[in-house]
Amino acid sequence: MDAKTIIDQTEKYYLPVFGRYQLALTHGKGCKLYDADGNEYLDFLAGIAVNSLGHAHPALVKAISEQAAKLMHCSNIYYTDIQAKAVKEIIETTGFDRVFLANSGAEANEGAIKLARKYGHQKNEGKYRIITAVHSFHGRTMMTVTATGQPKYQQGYEPLPAGFDYVPYGDLEALREAMDEDVCCVLLEPIQGEGGVHVPSDTYLHEARLLCDKYDALLVFDEIQTGVARTGKWFAYMHSGVKPDIMTFAKGIGGGFPVGGFVVTEWLAHVFKPGDHGGTFGGNALACAAIYATLTTIKNEN
Ligand SMILES: Cc1ncc(COP(=O)(O)O)c(C=O)c1O
Repeated sequence: MDAKTIIDQTEKYYLPVFGRYQLALTHGKGCKLYDADGNEYLDFLAGIAVNSLGHAHPALVKAISEQAAKLMHCSNIYYTDIQAKAVKEIIETTGFDRVFLANSGAEANEGAIKLARKYGHQKNEGKYRIITAVHSFHGRTMMTVTATGQPKYQQGYEPLPAGFDYVPYGDLEALREAMDEDVCCVLLEPIQGEGGVHVPSDTYLHEARLLCDKYDALLVFDEIQTGVARTGKWFAYMHSGVKPDIMTFAKGIGGGFPVGGFVVTEWLAHVFKPGDHGGTFGGNALACAAIYATLTTIKNEN
């Protein structure tokens, strides 16, 4: 298909939700992308922090191809060898104890928020408040768009889920004022991404940790954009040493295959009981092959 046909056909059938460049891509290799007219581009976007191994990395292509030929999907009511390998690799890389796998960043945050709500409700019925930051971005589901501290993404979807409050990012006093016993979690990006690249002081993250401890609220870091070695360490929380109770990830961990999820420390592992949360595709065999290949390749190639 030539570029014009690709663009016209897509425009005709896809919902017009994206402002797209007039660029019709056919393939990629390493940090290069190629369009239908044969032009070569240096890819500085990397799928919005997704293509952590570049395009068509042989290790990722081999892992997905071989897994597809063996077992693409069964169900989480069974165990698979590749899921066992992937979850061990995630735990060893992230420094947490337990993982839940989903398919996107929004779903990862959705699950983390549900876990925090469940945790709060186990303490008392009124402990459901969620504090997030102005200019944050956490996804496009109803819950995560509400967590996102940017009204432009929320307009037209009201009524939004209740219980969210927003504080200016990096402003300790505002966070102190917002906290009380009814807060079940504080959800922050350790470096903001979509709303502008905002790097907080280590003090801010340390104090957020202490405030959460004081009010028995969970500290949740959204590392969907900062994760998978993008800031020079495996995860951005490792710079400050401030460890959240829940950390969400997605984007770069599948190297381009759609995956997401969250990790927790052991003491939170049993807040969800069987049946409380789940999903058909999360932890799918193909996705786990992509995760395992991506993480081990970054490690092996340093
Ligand atoms: C920090 C952060 N959280 C969540 C998301 C949502 O991820 P997804 O688009 O995979 O749902 C994004 C996407 O840009 C993000 O940057």
